[in-house]
Amino acid sequence: MEVTFDILRRRSAAEKPFIQTVTIDGGRCATVAEALDLINAEELADDPIQWERSCKQKKCGACAMLINGRPRLACDTKLSEFRKSRIELAPLKKFPVVRDLIVDRKVIFDDLQKLGAWLDENAEADICGISYEASRCLQCGCCLEVCPNFYPGGEFYGASVLSVSSRLAAETPAEYSKRIYGAYNEHFYRGCGKSLSCKDICPAGIDTERLMVNSNAAAVWKRGKRKKDRQ
Ligand code: SF4
Ligand code: SF4
Ligand code: FES
Repeated sequence: MEVTFDILRRRSAAEKPFIQTVTIDGGRCATVAEALDLINAEELADDPIQWERSCKQKKCGACAMLINGRPRLACDTKLSEFRKSRIELAPLKKFPVVRDLIVDRKVIFDDLQKLGAWLDENAEADICGISYEASRCLQCGCCLEVCPNFYPGGEFYGASVLSVSSRLAAETPAEYSKRIYGAYNEHFYRGCGKSLSCKDICPAGIDTERLMVNSNAAAVWKRGKRKKDRQ
């Protein structure tokens, strides 16, 4: 079956975007990532589509892009899922475009740094149930793309820091997790509108609602209780 791709391209951040349409034999590739490789090797060898990938196994998050308007991983999106044989590809919109389908997701890592999301020197990690789920986060940015409250450079850092802070807070003893709880409160809890747009979008299958419930209980409600107890 022939599959036609409409790909939103841009030579650089300063230049105007345009749509390039390419038709390939869909029977020769299973995923959008494989289709992009085929297009670049055979159809556009002189002017290949720029896109990011590393693992091609849903492990690095680099290939996140808009596929028919939904943020997804190209390596985890099968052509067989689409009823129509026309697929639109575009870069994520919340991040600056570098070229074609490549965006600069530096803000995710800047926010993690600002959150102080690292283990303190003497903290011993105690891996527990919720950590396994949180540790699956790829930092792909799909949850940020659909979040109505996240914008790059804002004080609310979105669900990509939720997984990291949930993991650290769950793994470390109370004396170390206090700092993480404070940052979580300021940069996640206060800004999150609880719309749960992020809940079903995660390609790693992270249940963001479950992480929020756990983190809110630990970082917000228990902290409030401790304060109350002291009064
Ligand atoms: S929580 Fe899911 S969607 Fe958000 S950055 Fe992590 S892996 Fe991506
Ligand atoms: S619940 Fe809504 S506001 Fe909160 S992180 Fe998810 S999408 Fe964003
Ligand atoms: S290339 Fe690593 S997740 Fe797709």
